[in-house]
Amino acid sequence: MLVSATEMLKKAKAGHYAVGQFNINNLEWTKSILLTAQELNSPVILGVSEGAGKYMSGFKTVAAMVKAMDEELGITVPVALHLDHGSYEGCYKCIKAGFTSIMFDGSHYPIEENVAKTTELVNVAHALGLSIEAEVGSIGGEEDGVVGAGECADPKECKMIADLGVDMLAAGIGNIHGKYPENWAGLSFETLDAVQQETGIMPLVLHGGTGIPEDMIKKAIDLGVSKINVNTECQLSFQEATRKYIEEGKDLQGKGFDPRKLLAPGAQAICDTVKEKMELFGSVGKAND
Ligand code: 13P
Repeated sequence: MLVSATEMLKKAKAGHYAVGQFNINNLEWTKSILLTAQELNSPVILGVSEGAGKYMSGFKTVAAMVKAMDEELGITVPVALHLDHGSYEGCYKCIKAGFTSIMFDGSHYPIEENVAKTTELVNVAHALGLSIEAEVGSIGGEEDGVVGAGECADPKECKMIADLGVDMLAAGIGNIHGKYPENWAGLSFETLDAVQQETGIMPLVLHGGTGIPEDMIKKAIDLGVSKINVNTECQLSFQEATRKYIEEGKDLQGKGFDPRKLLAPGAQAICDTVKEKMELFGSVGKAND
């Protein structure tokens, strides 16, 4: 059931668990995530970066695919279709295409400009029933060519943006997209705590969910994180399973070259990763809360 992320995140914040945002890249990804959410009776957020949107031939294609798949697979758990790290223009494109949620990433603008653009987009998104995420303090690492240094957000700036009425707030706390380097200092719980103190009931978003140790994930949820984004980990699971299939020569046996067979182990691996994350985040069984 396609919905905005507002209600599911309010419930997650109140219930001290987090909803997973899993980024999609194609039909197999989408199907694996939707079926796993349904099996586990968990709410879920499908994240679409601008690059992935372009790869799938545009946000309209993505929205049409997700809507149809949601219906034809009989998905009854709450599903939000969310733009990940959207530009100002990208937000408008997704609103028009029929997304149920957007993220405006204005973290690279001076705070005044981030406030002005976020204010405008909050009004537009809410008038149409969409939820909106904003960002303060950039997330480290590289995603679709956008490179962030991974700074920690200023809690006062977080309050400024939270007060604009956004539904969820991504605050940089030393998190990084992609694999974490050996010398990573870990999440800054001091920053997270200070942000939570300033923003109160606002659901906080933890980007860069891949590779964060379980104890840190649990502590982050305790300190107010209600949405956790995972992308690279599903890509790695898919890659590993597909590599194994080919290295075992299975594509050379019988009709092993059939894409439905060739992509099946990777698709199953995504299901397994999503399941593991939903269990860790505590969202299993929360679809009808
Ligand atoms: P990872 O690729 O590190 O899991 O990060 C995903 C993310 O934060 C998407 O916005």
